[in-house]
Amino acid sequence: MSTTLTNTAAWKSLRKHFNEVKEIEMKSLFEKDENRGKSFKLDELGIYFDYSKHRITDETLSILFDLARERGVEERRSAMFSGEKINTTENRAVLHTALRAPKGSTIMVDGRDIVPDVHAVLDKMADFSNKIRSGEWKGFTGKPIKNIVNIGIGGSDLGPVMAYEALKYFSARELVFRFVSNVDGSDFAEAVVDLQADETLFIISSKTFTTLETMANAQTARNWSLSQLGDQLSVARHFVAVSTNEKDVTKFGIDAQNMFGFWDWVGGRYSMSAAIGLSTMIAIGPVHYQGMLNGLHEMDEHFRTAPLEKNIPVIIGLLGLWYNNFFDAQTQAVFPYDRYLHRFPAYLQQLTMESNGKHVTLDGELTDYQTGVVYWGEPGTNGQHSFYQLIHQGTKLIPTDFIGFKKSLNNLPPHQDYLIANMIAQGEALAFGKTTDEVRAEGVPEKLIPHKVFEGNRPSSTFFLDQMSPENLGKLVAMYEHAVFVQGVIWGINPYDQMGVELGKVLAQNIIPELQYSSKEIHHDSSTNALIELYRK
Ligand code: F6P
Repeated sequence: MSTTLTNTAAWKSLRKHFNEVKEIEMKSLFEKDENRGKSFKLDELGIYFDYSKHRITDETLSILFDLARERGVEERRSAMFSGEKINTTENRAVLHTALRAPKGSTIMVDGRDIVPDVHAVLDKMADFSNKIRSGEWKGFTGKPIKNIVNIGIGGSDLGPVMAYEALKYFSARELVFRFVSNVDGSDFAEAVVDLQADETLFIISSKTFTTLETMANAQTARNWSLSQLGDQLSVARHFVAVSTNEKDVTKFGIDAQNMFGFWDWVGGRYSMSAAIGLSTMIAIGPVHYQGMLNGLHEMDEHFRTAPLEKNIPVIIGLLGLWYNNFFDAQTQAVFPYDRYLHRFPAYLQQLTMESNGKHVTLDGELTDYQTGVVYWGEPGTNGQHSFYQLIHQGTKLIPTDFIGFKKSLNNLPPHQDYLIANMIAQGEALAFGKTTDEVRAEGVPEKLIPHKVFEGNRPSSTFFLDQMSPENLGKLVAMYEHAVFVQGVIWGINPYDQMGVELGKVLAQNIIPELQYSSKEIHHDSSTNALIELYRK
């Protein structure tokens, strides 16, 4: 039985077209069209997006755009921006775009304009950030705060840590930032090993305020802080919360005054521009933070208004789908050629894989096609000396995104020239490779020739921006957020729930007492029982 997706006219013509072009060589595409490098590109919002090094023709793109239209990408896009409850399994709107909507705009959810609510929280965050940064906010013993520890996991960690690292250049260097996510106690222990409690602020970041890891770390942080400060009243000066759950925040002992709220229409992995960004705002200050929001909003507007053919996130989404569903590519690599973006691939993993790792359509039917792609990556040039070998000469097709900046924030010639030369060279090598004749002409001994041939024809996109900045980070984040949306719509799945993470959590809750009380009977499978017994011993 085929699903609605595989029954669409565009899908069928894409399948037929794929059979015609699957052997096509990028080299010949470039030879046939000497302007290809300039025609298969967009230059929007300061992002030069080169998608010429792909196994596509004009016809491929045209059918992909037909598919997007046939699957209702434009209608769903309007539905998302206008606050319709497109997260149907949880009956929620999906409005991370409202988090960066300018003051004065109007977005209605359940009869309420949410934009003033968003700005009230942003103002409260700005006020608090300024107090921490200026030293006006005093700890319990009267000292200013020097250390900020964000405790959270998943979307309540990956966005903040990625943004802090990405924007470190713009941060207040006299402040120390640490991020604790793992329930492994070593994560907390190492984060505070050189800190003093009377100079340390904990931000407990959790949308639900029930997540096991975060609650355990928050409890340990409170014990650690109280063991030095010795007075319950100190909690009010050293703990704040970011959450949607005021009841549990106050139960934990954090004053509601010290809570920064957000809403159920913000998914965890889409929350770095909600109050979850508090640590980012303290680090870079409200002005730069606004710059990041401006960048996010600019990309939101581009995605909302640009025709599909000129729409960066749409094209990214369609290219990903082309390789995933037709070339059977399993993964997508992302290589930022900028050290500040070293946590960006980890951030993207949650964004993309928790969103589109679904095997059931919105109607509850099993898909008869592949969905979510495995995202992975590391900053360049490091990866070149590790796993690029497999991308160049391995047996797997790995579409790759390169992200680079023309100017470095740290002017240390000739580093930037070396860095960007490498990024550009990798795209060139992947696409065009090196033939047997070329290798032979170099005088390579005959028996080594096969080892030195690069078959090429390996696809990549290049995103080239001016310089790392809060605005550009915002644009990159929103760019991928919307690409995820486009793919989710075409696959007919819900990118905004994450039910697949629940089972493991429930089973862990069962196993905790079984590890703690060896008298407890255990009734798992033989492998699980053996592991539990081993731990108990
Ligand atoms: O378990 C997955 C998840 O729900 C993510 O979606 C979320 O980002 C993370 O846990 C943390 O959730 P919370 O912010 O509620 O602690």
